[in-house]
Amino acid sequence: MTLPRPPGDTGRKPLRELVGAGIMVPLLHGGEAPYANLDCAASTPSLAQVSARVAEVLPWYSSVHRGSGYLSMVSTSLYESARTTLHEFLGARADDVVIFTRNTTDSLNLLAKAAPKGGEVVYLDVEHHANLLPWQSRDSYCLTAARTLEETVERLRRTLEKREVPLVAITGASNVTGETVPLSSVVQAAHDHGARVAVDGAQLAPHRRIDLSALDADYLALSGHKCYAPFGAGILVGRRDWLDEAPAHLAGGGAIERVTVEHTDWAPAPARHEGGTPNAIGAVALAEASLVLDELINDGSIGAHEAALRGRLVAGLGSIKEVRQLRIWEDSTEAVGVVAFELVGHDAALVAAYLASEHAIGVRAGKFCAHPLIDRINGGRNALRASVGIGTTTEDVDRLVDGLKNYLATAPLEGYSFVDGSYVPDGYGRSAPFPAVDLRDPRRAPLGAYRS
Ligand SMILES: Cc1ncc(COP(=O)(O)O)c(C=O)c1O
Repeated sequence: MTLPRPPGDTGRKPLRELVGAGIMVPLLHGGEAPYANLDCAASTPSLAQVSARVAEVLPWYSSVHRGSGYLSMVSTSLYESARTTLHEFLGARADDVVIFTRNTTDSLNLLAKAAPKGGEVVYLDVEHHANLLPWQSRDSYCLTAARTLEETVERLRRTLEKREVPLVAITGASNVTGETVPLSSVVQAAHDHGARVAVDGAQLAPHRRIDLSALDADYLALSGHKCYAPFGAGILVGRRDWLDEAPAHLAGGGAIERVTVEHTDWAPAPARHEGGTPNAIGAVALAEASLVLDELINDGSIGAHEAALRGRLVAGLGSIKEVRQLRIWEDSTEAVGVVAFELVGHDAALVAAYLASEHAIGVRAGKFCAHPLIDRINGGRNALRASVGIGTTTEDVDRLVDGLKNYLATAPLEGYSFVDGSYVPDGYGRSAPFPAVDLRDPRRAPLGAYRS
């Protein structure tokens, strides 16, 4: 077992090797700089161990659950053992089912089809759209979070007393502020009133231990690309009964027991929801990442590393008077490495474009797929978000703080065009290793079509 790092060392070095670490990116005014990835909450790079595992299994890749050849047997077994590894990683109960999906969005959409029709699904207004939009298409109730977590759980309890609720769908950690939710109190309140709990674990799983059995939560969704395994797989884990009854998430090959022209007998979960050829490589990658996360979470290194970086970031931002940091709850004490803030009076999209093109820093600007929350806590204005992970260092954090100070010293900026709702530095990207997007090409999806 790796021992926790001594405090003096915390945050200075990446915890594990990541693919692309130290990659150089072009700067607007010439030259290059190492990329400071402060957008880990959106997507993480691949762990080197994950990409090595993918390279190792690729020669064995063949059809899963279909062929009788040796390679098909190997691939099927790799896919199924990935399921078992993830079942263990999440402390799932023996009769829980692990379904491979594309990502958290896919998992929660699947669960929305599986949850019984009667009653209202309750969710908070702080949720990411992935845990909000699937519920809007059925009877549901959006609870406005209170100023404190304590009062929010109390509001939830009162709601559960008054309404018939089959399911409470709640985030484990906010993708905007990183604040975590006291899940055991939520589970207790829900179960006291006969409701189940689905945890959106997209932001929690890369940072904290999730033990479904100990927590007694009923469902959990997560994305591989936020857990250092960006190979297109996610999972939904949880109680079998609803999932066995639900309409097939993807109707097609592999999801059935018998088909006639008139009728189909569907297989039980997980096969029922995994129609079509599965993403075996994505599943293997996610399982490998879970082994690394398991080790780094359990020995305390992720907690210590990210707490040090978050603390430094919060302090650094606090030293800039124009910065207003966002938070949802006054009494939250536990947060993962995600910090949202506003540079008051400045356009978040322009600040982000400046940080990218003049300082090689990747952050996110916008409403972070959490419009109701941003509308409530930031008056609907776009904000900035910086998020750290196991590859982030104190130097990355310091560069962001310096970059913001430089921006304030330089603004207003010239040389940026406003295209489809975002700022593009003129001429930037000419030296990119891949063809730059031709903004005049009518076949491209307009950048603004992907509003988040
Ligand atoms: C809390 C939360 N839930 C759900 C999602 C959706 O994840 P994905 O885009 O992988 O489906 C995200 C993505 O940012 C998230 O942060």
